[in-house]
Amino acid sequence: MKKLIVTIDGPAASGKEKIAKYISKKWKLNHLDSGILYRRLALIFLIEKIDIKNINKIENKLKEIDQISFRNSNHIRTQAISKLASKIAIHNCVRRFINKLQYNFVNKNKKMRGFVIDGRDIGSVVFKKADLKLYIDVNPEIRAKRRYKQLIDSGEKSIYRKILKDIKLRDKQDKLRKHSPLVIPKGSHIINNNGSFKDTINQINILLDKI
Ligand code: C5P
Repeated sequence: MKKLIVTIDGPAASGKEKIAKYISKKWKLNHLDSGILYRRLALIFLIEKIDIKNINKIENKLKEIDQISFRNSNHIRTQAISKLASKIAIHNCVRRFINKLQYNFVNKNKKMRGFVIDGRDIGSVVFKKADLKLYIDVNPEIRAKRRYKQLIDSGEKSIYRKILKDIKLRDKQDKLRKHSPLVIPKGSHIINNNGSFKDTINQINILLDKI
């Protein structure tokens, strides 16, 4: 049986993860958050003090790693890891490495009905032929407010203005990078997530009902 693939792309803190979790539960699809993989790799580079500007050092390190954890955790959700993940994501060798992990994950879990995968290049590069492609749109101020609340709730000290600045910087890095920049994927549906979650999932359920 053909596996169903739903992709969710969008900028930092646009609510992709919450939306993906909702779709995963309602439609019994396996959720893969590709951002976790960039964050996990950033953590490895941080711990092992890899110079992330030195492409040879990065490539050598990638050759040594054959698997990384797909598990979420508070310690990869810090502002420092967010920034580092965005910085390493500009390198093509890093993107190829992470894309391979994603293809393996989807191919290995053959018994699953399908997958909902979120990130910045999922519908545009990684799974171009997905059954449904969503692009989540939210203005930066609302994203910063939501991320601020999330960080405070998880016990991290935070300043709203700094978060807004970091979000804008990450948007710039993600949209302007040479390899797999954040774009609205061809054939995707733009979901407005400026309002309530209920309003957002209503837009999505209409689309999912048609697949
Ligand atoms: O989605 P999340 O904020 O966890 O992703 C962390 C960083 O990883 C992003 O800012 C982005 O630079 C990078 N990323 C990416 N492509 C993806 C997922 C994440 O470039 N598919």
